[in-house]
Amino acid sequence: MAGVAFKNITKVFGKDVRAVDNLNLDIRDKEFMVLVGPSGCGKTTALRMVAGLEEATDGDILIGDVRVNDVPPKDRDIAMVFQNYALYPHMNVYDNIAFGLRLRELKGFFWQLAHLSDAKRIKQDIDTRVREVARMLDIEKYLLRRPKELSGGQRQRVALARAIVRKPKVFLMDEPLSNLDAKLRVQTRAELIRLHRQLGITTIYVTHDQVEAMTMGQRMAIMRDGLLQQCDEPEKVYRYPANRFVASFIGSPPMNFLPGKIGAEGGAAFVDVGEFKIPVPADNPAAKMAGSDVILGIRPEDIYDAELQGHIAPTPQNTICAKVDVLEPLGHEYVAYLGAGQHSLIATISNETKMKEGQEARFIVDLDRIHLFDVTTENAIR
Ligand SMILES: Nc1ncnc2c1ncn2[C@@H]1O[C@H](COP(=O)(O)OP(=O)(O)OP(=O)(O)O)[C@@H](O)[C@H]1O
Ligand SMILES: [Mg+2]
Repeated sequence: MAGVAFKNITKVFGKDVRAVDNLNLDIRDKEFMVLVGPSGCGKTTALRMVAGLEEATDGDILIGDVRVNDVPPKDRDIAMVFQNYALYPHMNVYDNIAFGLRLRELKGFFWQLAHLSDAKRIKQDIDTRVREVARMLDIEKYLLRRPKELSGGQRQRVALARAIVRKPKVFLMDEPLSNLDAKLRVQTRAELIRLHRQLGITTIYVTHDQVEAMTMGQRMAIMRDGLLQQCDEPEKVYRYPANRFVASFIGSPPMNFLPGKIGAEGGAAFVDVGEFKIPVPADNPAAKMAGSDVILGIRPEDIYDAELQGHIAPTPQNTICAKVDVLEPLGHEYVAYLGAGQHSLIATISNETKMKEGQEARFIVDLDRIHLFDVTTENAIR
């Protein structure tokens, strides 16, 4: 069992930089957890505390059931992969991968005495493991090359191999793909997921890229200014963001936010944004908040061209009119920039649309997928 737990973890740098603020997070054994959030939100600091490279100001860090605050990094049985992984430039790929194992198994010095029978067995064992991992990561062909003779993506795989070969209890990865070009990033992303399935090692993966977080994480923890905002499965976070920050951070193009007021007519509640009214589901607490100011959130992908046959039929309640300012073709769809009175909206529209820039058009809003936020706390109302 090697889950990782942050219990009331706070890290203060200097007098007043609260890099991580009372973080409580349980990462399960074998789980792939993604820590995501904008630059400076405390992701790296949180990871470094697990590694033991940074001391917590307050709180407990557990690996398995053991409190590790006072355990030195080398005894925590973790492996870390950084954005700027440093390979040993004078060693070939094989030795780069084997180095940590030799250090651990043979305590460095005894490596020189490898002719001793015990050392020979260990050497063979290391050889088997290095080759196994190299095969897994498809770098067998390069075992005798130096790092400078490899592409960025190949080097990245060597760095991963070096971490994996040790079979640690926990993997810590800090933006390990950010130096790769877009195509290689997608490919290595898939490789990492496959590796995780194969090895089943608890992994904490840090990124500021919401797509990476959505596609890789079994669960994702979203941070902002040192504070945990929400932790859940990607689909749940997408569908039920806890607050306006999470709602705007997850999803692309970002959710539309429209200031409005709750009203009620004949027992049915709606949110009035001036230009149009959107019904509020009866089971939403906002339905009983007539007169309150709220923020209405609608994702671009929940807005449809009303002239196209879709899975939602147009009704007076779900249809809005807006002027199409700009239509951006993406191939499989258009990103439409709309104006509705004082509001600007973004919608992603099927490429079968006949609408034209500069024209008025009718749009359907998926009423099951609207979001409402409190104007003061910005927390979701539901
Ligand atoms: N050694 C340090 N001394 C002082 N402040 C620090 C130190 N390390 C980090 N900080 C501050 O702590 C906060 C969190 O930093 P951290 O590196 O954890 O952010 P991050 O989420 O990893 O950001 P990025 O996505 O840019 O890597 C930032 O405000 C940063 O300036
Ligand atoms: Mg960082």
